[in-house]
Amino acid sequence: MRKLPVLVILFALMLSCTPSEKKDGLSIRDLRKSEQTENTAIEQKIDELLSQMTLEEKIGQMTQINNSQIVTESSWGAGADLSIVTKVDTAKLGNLLRKYHIGSFLNGIAETPEVWYQFYKDLQEYNLQVSRLKIPIIYGVDQMHGPNYLAGGTIFPHAINTACTFNNEFPANMAHVTANEVADIGHLWIFAPVFDLGRTPLWGRFYETLGESPYQAATMGSIFTKALQSDTTIAPYKIAASAKHFFAYSDPKSGWDRTPTDLSTQTLYELHLPPFRAAVEAGIESVMINSGEINGEPVHASYWILTDILRNELKFKGVAVTDWEDIIRLYRNHRVAADEREATLMAINAGIDMAMTPYTTDFCEHMLALVREGKISEERIDLSVARILRMKLKIGLFENPLPRNDRFDRIGTSEHKQLALEAARESLVLMRNENNTLPLTNIKKLLVTGPVANLKAPLGGGWTLRWINHDESLYPQSMLTPFEALQKEFSESAIVLAETEADVKAKAQGADAIVVLAGENSYAEGFGSIDDINLPAEQTKWIQTAISTGKPVILVLISGRPRIITDVYEKTSAVIFAGWPGFEGAQAIAEVIKGKINPSGKLAFNYPYKPNRLLPHNHKPTEVLLAHEIPNPVALAHFGEGLSYTTYTYSSLTLSDSILRADEAEIKATVTVTNTGNREGKEAVLWFLFDEVASLTRPVRELKFYEKKSIRPGESVQYSFTIKPSEHLWFPDKDNNRVLENGYFTLSVGNLKTRFRLEK
Ligand code: BGC
Repeated sequence: MRKLPVLVILFALMLSCTPSEKKDGLSIRDLRKSEQTENTAIEQKIDELLSQMTLEEKIGQMTQINNSQIVTESSWGAGADLSIVTKVDTAKLGNLLRKYHIGSFLNGIAETPEVWYQFYKDLQEYNLQVSRLKIPIIYGVDQMHGPNYLAGGTIFPHAINTACTFNNEFPANMAHVTANEVADIGHLWIFAPVFDLGRTPLWGRFYETLGESPYQAATMGSIFTKALQSDTTIAPYKIAASAKHFFAYSDPKSGWDRTPTDLSTQTLYELHLPPFRAAVEAGIESVMINSGEINGEPVHASYWILTDILRNELKFKGVAVTDWEDIIRLYRNHRVAADEREATLMAINAGIDMAMTPYTTDFCEHMLALVREGKISEERIDLSVARILRMKLKIGLFENPLPRNDRFDRIGTSEHKQLALEAARESLVLMRNENNTLPLTNIKKLLVTGPVANLKAPLGGGWTLRWINHDESLYPQSMLTPFEALQKEFSESAIVLAETEADVKAKAQGADAIVVLAGENSYAEGFGSIDDINLPAEQTKWIQTAISTGKPVILVLISGRPRIITDVYEKTSAVIFAGWPGFEGAQAIAEVIKGKINPSGKLAFNYPYKPNRLLPHNHKPTEVLLAHEIPNPVALAHFGEGLSYTTYTYSSLTLSDSILRADEAEIKATVTVTNTGNREGKEAVLWFLFDEVASLTRPVRELKFYEKKSIRPGESVQYSFTIKPSEHLWFPDKDNNRVLENGYFTLSVGNLKTRFRLEK
């Protein structure tokens, strides 16, 4: 009862604002002004265009249509007819451009550069003929691990592998190669990087993430963004990146894609927001919105998330694009709108700029009606259109709308493939190596087996040549399967394949060791949903059969996420987590097994031990306090673990001071790492902090910094980390206020620990 008057007042206030007015913060006009850049030529052009555009033309700019709607035959989707060549159907395109003035298209499959070139040239030329104000189309593509939708392109490992390298050169290399291979064919809007966190392996998009640490996702995602958006070698073109999927998309309660997320606001602000804050600070041009709901609010209809947080708090000035069909889903799936028109109004009022509709133009009709009914103001439309035009102008699309075909020799070069190979090598995590089983030496006969031993598709994983692609014939001839790569690397030995489990025992006769390749074939989005995180029983049985031969078993997991292998783990001699390592992945795996490469990957997530214990490294203290009742370890292997063929000792952890007295004060921590083995290696040093006593519960440890360096045998190398209260010691409360409290902090690195104090 006591709450009633407040609710009545709030309701009255809501009614008193027209839906297109801002409830707080800046007015639309001031917001638009605040987003202007210093480039007066760009701003003048935006104003000039807006003053000439019709309402229909403006709405067209806010609409994005899938390429299946403008090609002669649809080549899109799982199970598509693979003989189809993407060609513009001018009749279909004509209608979309003349009547609806569509400003953006997306997607495709891996076509040759020549086909893509012709397609984009036809599309853009037609558009420029039809477009009254000559506004170029911006084309968006999911090039997520290298140019995965370009035949002959260089395919990198997925993001989860990139994270396991703990080497910041790799996100930059991947961005550079992607830009170089696709800019000329008009793919100037790239739907990457993913800033979601890999906090639950139940989620089928785990592999698209840069691991479970917000710090690491923020760091590597920003490096990728800056490298992609500022690559000068692709001149005269420039590319816009897109931060996906804003925000907290990756931690749904059930683990299944696009199902509800229920998290405290404190957790949202502490874990899921920082990577997107970093994306905005890196200057990302666009953000793609989370298709799911958070605490009951579908994100596409959430003013709190899309305006209060994204615009007012993060100060994002670029384009907010919906994800696939997500306005429609507001009424069809979320049931917060009675029909598509109401859903459209909700999404626009929440803060959406562009609708990936993606099959129909109903969005355009609804928008027109909503403006005519006075429910959306033209000023509100202008705000979104200004953002979209600004993105087009900033990447130089008006000056260079057409593709070029004189630099295709840049695609799939040996230099690019070498960069993908190096990334794959450093991403492999040697989780176990009993009695130095690896590297394998003096091998006369090696048995290779397992469900993915002689396949290419699992190396690429989802979003490779197609959305989901299990057709082995589509992968390049030159690409090696793990079995083929082992044959190549062990050319002096007999490398025998047991294609079925039934063959293992007989074929193991006389073998010195068995390599079992288990894991997951490729999937994407909802098709990655599983109801059991264990490695499938038939695969575990296959591994057990190999173990039963008494030969040393090397288990290699080619998988988009960790699947539980606890039952067989201790019976294997060695285990490598290979993630989805890309087209050069098999070569990298064979090189590590042979010892040509010294492994240096570390887990960017906690590898689970049991299905009901999915705890990341930065879990809360009480999540393990009951350990006496639950005898199992927190994880089978921990975040940051990964073996090498050499050994390292950490020593002399020192702090430049033991007390910090101001927000901007600094302590420099240094540690010496010595290579005590007899091989050169690369060691990633990971620094963790723990806030010993705080007003809110704090994680047992949080990654705050990492750095990877080469160390020669016998050499000692210093690593350092500069700790700053304003950067490393605060946390957000449930209202997103910064909390910075005096007291002790534990710093840990390798097996060493020390403390320091904040005393302001
Ligand atoms: C995915 C996005 C992707 C978009 C366009 C959606 O279903 O969630 O990650 O960018 O499709 O392909």
